[in-house]
Amino acid sequence: MKIALIGAGNLATNIGMALAEAGHELLQVYSRTEQSAERLAAMLHCPWTTELEQVTDGADVYIIAVKDGALADVARSLAAGHEERFLVHTAGSMPMETLPTKRRGVLYPMQTFSKERKVLFREIPCFVEAADKADGAMLRGLAETLSERVYEANSEARKYLHLSAVFCCNFANHCYAISERLLKEHGGLPFEVMLPLIDETARKVHELSPRKAQTGPAVRWDTNVMEKHIQLLKGEPQLQEIYKLLSESIRE
Ligand SMILES: NC(=O)c1ccc[n+]([C@@H]2O[C@H](COP(=O)([O-])OP(=O)(O)OC[C@H]3O[C@@H](n4cnc5c(N)ncnc54)[C@H](OP(=O)(O)O)[C@@H]3O)[C@@H](O)[C@H]2O)c1
Repeated sequence: MKIALIGAGNLATNIGMALAEAGHELLQVYSRTEQSAERLAAMLHCPWTTELEQVTDGADVYIIAVKDGALADVARSLAAGHEERFLVHTAGSMPMETLPTKRRGVLYPMQTFSKERKVLFREIPCFVEAADKADGAMLRGLAETLSERVYEANSEARKYLHLSAVFCCNFANHCYAISERLLKEHGGLPFEVMLPLIDETARKVHELSPRKAQTGPAVRWDTNVMEKHIQLLKGEPQLQEIYKLLSESIRE
């Protein structure tokens, strides 16, 4: 398929590489800055632009992977004078209706993407939705060339999917960052001592439900230990609050 890639960040880089590897033709990359556009275009061996008005005609699909806050404006510019374009966004929490064209859809790959790190796209669950049946079939077909795990999900279901992903990934990762800082500030042990624990915690839920897999002072409600932990955080009222809230949520 002929694809125009709108965006050159974390997701655009990964999906761009996966599209190229699956044999699709990347017609052009757009990004707001020359630096981003040029970098990804060089990786994909295709032309680039920083002007939305100069985005190419003739793509079968325009995959938009820009900052969620800019999505509506970018899509409006792409649609101006080009109502026939098939616009597809990649965001978990943005409704398909954010796109102003009749031919519109969503391809949401649920993974954490960073430019610097290549992921195995074939294993990533991809959730698709389209306004039109034929476009839906086309989008599903496209997604199936990238991933073995393609599901249909409307905007309502996708909202909860993204919310759940924020708990599983972003909040868990933030807890790693807190841990890394506490280790550094109190004794200087390296964060790598946590890696076997992190890995086993993640492996365990392949076999046990997260509820069953839970261990630690909060699930046992060992208040003596919990009070000591809260004391250790005495200079950090926000962390004390997080500790208490999470512990209460685990207990419930
Ligand atoms: N990263 C993930 O893990 C992930 C996972 C699933 C879905 N998504 C979705 O993918 C989309 C992109 O996320 P990302 O993480 O790839 O973001 P990102 O790395 O921050 O890249 C954002 C892209 O948007 C462009 N941009 C930023 N502000 C803009 C503006 N005001 N007008 C036009 N373009 C603008 C940036 O251009 P410049 O670099 O040129 O400034 C860049 O090309 C989002 O909808 C997100 O929800 C991301």
